[in-house]
Amino acid sequence: PSRQDSPLYPVLENAAAFYRQQLRHHAQRKRAVDYLQQRGLTGQIAKLYDIGFAPPGWNNLMGHLATDNTEEKVLIEAGLVVENPDSGKRYDRFRDRITFPIRDSRGRVIGFGGRVLGDDKPKYLNSPETPVFHKGRELYGLYEARKQNRQLDDILVVEGYMDVIALAQHGVTNAVATLGTATSEEHLKRLFRIVNSVVFCFDGDNAGRQAAWRALQSCLPALEDGRHVRFMFLPEGQDPDSLIRSEGHDAFRARMVQQAQPLTDYLFRHLAEEAPPDSLEGKAHLATLALPLIEQVPGSLLRRLLRQSLEARTGMDLDSLPAAPPVEPTSA
Ligand code: GTP
Ligand code: MN
Ligand code: MN
Ligand code: MN
Ligand code: MN
Repeated sequence: PSRQDSPLYPVLENAAAFYRQQLRHHAQRKRAVDYLQQRGLTGQIAKLYDIGFAPPGWNNLMGHLATDNTEEKVLIEAGLVVENPDSGKRYDRFRDRITFPIRDSRGRVIGFGGRVLGDDKPKYLNSPETPVFHKGRELYGLYEARKQNRQLDDILVVEGYMDVIALAQHGVTNAVATLGTATSEEHLKRLFRIVNSVVFCFDGDNAGRQAAWRALQSCLPALEDGRHVRFMFLPEGQDPDSLIRSEGHDAFRARMVQQAQPLTDYLFRHLAEEAPPDSLEGKAHLATLALPLIEQVPGSLLRRLLRQSLEARTGMDLDSLPAAPPVEPTSA
C-alpha cells in the first residue's frame, strides 16, 4: 500500500486513543497527571497536544490492539511494539511514559515521543523510522501550531516536546521541534512554504549552541530574498520551557523581539570568534570561512549584501577574486 492509505495510520490513531484513555482511567493515572501538573501544564493544553500515558507493563498496548500474529506484526511495523531479535519476544515500546503523538501536516498520527516520569534513562524515546514516520522531515507541533493560528507569521523552532508544549501553555502557540535530529534543509523548505520568518530558540547549553550553528548551515540554501531567519540565545542552563515558566509570556516575547539575532549577524559573529579579523592573516582566514557559506545563499540580493559586509570586514574587494573559492568543510 502507498503511504497515502497505509494500514499504519488507523493503528497509530488507535494507539493515541489508548494512551489518551490511560491518562484518564489507568490505576496509576495520578502519577502521570501529577507529573504534568508539576511541569506547569493544564488539562486544556494536555488535551490540545493529545498527551497520553503508556502504563507500566510489557503488553498493555499489544493486548489492547492485537488479537493475533498478523495484528501484532502491524504494531511492530508501526514502531509501537518491539520484537527481540534473539528470543522473538514481543513487547510494548512505550512503557511507563508520558506520550506525545506526532502528527503529520494533515493531522494524522505518524509516531510518538515518550518521556519517563522521573529521572530514569533514557529520558525520551521516539518511534523508529517507519513507512509513515521520517524524523528528518517531520516537525513536532506543526499541525497543532497551524490549528491554533488562523495565520502564522513566523515559526519558532525549539529542541523538545516540552518546550513546544510549555510555550503553548503560556500563549506562544507557534513553536515546533525537530525530533531528536538536526534541523535539515528539508525541515527548512517545509517551514518556508508556510512562513517567511523562522526563529531558532535552542537550549542555553553547549548542545543547543552547536545545534544553532548546524541549523544556520542548513538554512543557507533556503535563504531566498524576503526570507528571515533569526536566532535567540538563552541564558546558560535555560531552555524555552524553563524560561517561559520563570519569566512569563511577555518577557519571553520581549526577548524574542529584542534579542533574536538575524542569521547574518550570527554568522559573522560566530566566524569572527574562529577567525578574528584583527590582522591580515585573520582577515584572510575570515574570508576563507565566510565565502563558501555566503555562496550557498540563493537570494542574489542577500548574497550581495553578505559579500559587501565581508568586504567591509576584511577591507578586500571580493570581485577581484577568482570566482569559485575553494570550499572548506563547513563545520567551523
Ligand atoms: P525535559 O527534561 O523534559 O525538559 O527535556 P528537554 O526537552 O529539555 O531535554 P534536553 O534539553 O535534555 O534534550 C533536548 C531534546 O533532545 C529532547 O526534547 C529530546 O527530543 C531529545 N532527547 C533528550 N534526551 C533524550 C534521550 O534520552 N533519548 C532520545 N532519543 N532523545 C533525547
Ligand atoms: Mn513548563
Ligand atoms: Mn539541552
Ligand atoms: Mn532542554
Ligand atoms: Mn527542558
